[in-house]
Amino acid sequence: MLTIDTLGDLRGKRVLVRSDLNVPLDEDGAISDDGRVRASVPTLRRLIEAGARVIVCAHLGRPKGVPDEAFSLAPVAHRLGELLGIPVALAQDTVGNSARSVVAALEDGQVAVLENLRFDPGETAKDDAERGAFADQLASLADCYVSDGFGVVHRKQASVYDLAQRLPHAAGGLVQAEVEVLRRLTEDPQHPYAVVLGGAKVSDKLEVIANLLQTADRLLIGGGMVFTFLAAQGHEVGKSLLERDQIDTVKGYLDLARERGVEIVLPTDIVAATEFSADADHEVVSAEAIPADRIGLDIGPDSAEAFAAALTDTRTVFWNGPMGAFEMAPFAAGTKAVAQALAEVTAGGALTVVGGGDSAAAVRQLGFDDDQFGHISTGGGASLEYLEGKQLPGLTVLEG
Ligand code: 3PG
Repeated sequence: MLTIDTLGDLRGKRVLVRSDLNVPLDEDGAISDDGRVRASVPTLRRLIEAGARVIVCAHLGRPKGVPDEAFSLAPVAHRLGELLGIPVALAQDTVGNSARSVVAALEDGQVAVLENLRFDPGETAKDDAERGAFADQLASLADCYVSDGFGVVHRKQASVYDLAQRLPHAAGGLVQAEVEVLRRLTEDPQHPYAVVLGGAKVSDKLEVIANLLQTADRLLIGGGMVFTFLAAQGHEVGKSLLERDQIDTVKGYLDLARERGVEIVLPTDIVAATEFSADADHEVVSAEAIPADRIGLDIGPDSAEAFAAALTDTRTVFWNGPMGAFEMAPFAAGTKAVAQALAEVTAGGALTVVGGGDSAAAVRQLGFDDDQFGHISTGGGASLEYLEGKQLPGLTVLEG
C-alpha cells in the first residue's frame, strides 16, 4: 500500500481525505460515540503539520442520494474542530458552489469538511459511469487523495474506490494500522485464538464464521444471533430473535466445528424479558428452555463466567458484536464480562481486537478505556469482510 510519504511535499497542496466519520447520533442529534472522529485525527494532524490544505470527505448514515438535514455532517465537523483545536469549515454541499468556494478559501494547514457524500446519488451508484462522474467532480477539488476511512474500504463507492484512480493517492495512517492488525489475525495468529461473535443477525456473520473455523481454536457466540444456534440444537427460544432460514446452515457449522476440533462455546443461561425494554420484567432461564412468552436479551451469569473463563488462556482474540442489549443496564452484564476478560488478557500480553461500531461503543459506554484493548477497529463490516478473506475494493485500489 502506498503511504503518505510517497505523495512528496504537501505544502500548499489540496489533499482530499476520505475519513469514516459515520458516528451514532442520539435522539437530539448529538454524537453518542465520537470514536471514529477521534480515530481520524492523527492523519489529519499529520497533513496539517505538513502544510496541506485538507479537505475531508465522509458519509453519515444512509441518506438516499438527496440532501437531508438529519444526516448533515455539521455535528461531526464541529467535533473535529474541537479535537483538532482549529476552526473547521463545513461546505453546504459535496461538489457544488459551496464546496468549491470553501476549498478555494483554504490556506496552508487549514481544514474543511464537505457535506455528506451520500447526499449525491453518484457516491453509492452501482453504475460505474455515474459513480465515475461524481468522482471526477470530487477529484477536481484536490491535488491528491488520502484514503483513511477504514470502515468504508469494503464499499466500491466513488470516494473510496474511484477517487484513487483519478488522483495521486495513498493510504492514511488509520487504514495502514487497521490492515496491519487484521493481517496479524489472519496470518499466523498466536494460539489459543478465540473469536467472540455477537450482534443481532447470524446471516451477517455466516461467511466470517466459515472462514474462522479454519484458523480459530474457540468460537464464543452470544447476542441476538445465538438464538439461531440454540434453535439449531433443538432448543426453544421463545420470542427471541431467530433466523429460521439459517438454522440448517448453522447446524452445518456446528458439525464442521466438531470435525475440525474447534470448540463452540454457547450460553447455558439467558436473561429473558417480557419485552425489549429496559424496565421489562426479566429473569435468568436455562438456554435450553426459554419460555414461549420471553425474549432473550443477554447471556446469563453462568454463561458470562464461562465465556470469561474461555478467554483466560488466549493469546489472540477477535471480538465483534455485543453479547446482549447492552444499551439497557439490565442486559449489559454479559457484554461487560467479555470486555473485562479481554482487558485482562490484553494486560497479560495477548493481541485483542474489538471490531465493529456496536462493540466499540459498548466498551466505551460500559466504562472501559480504548487502551485496555490491543486495538479497537473503526470498521465493523470492513473488518468482517477482511476476515472473510474477501478482496476489499478500497484496499485493492491503493496497491498501485
Ligand atoms: C459503517 O458504519 O460500518 C461504515 O461507516 C460503513 O457504512 P455503511 O454500512 O452505511 O456503508
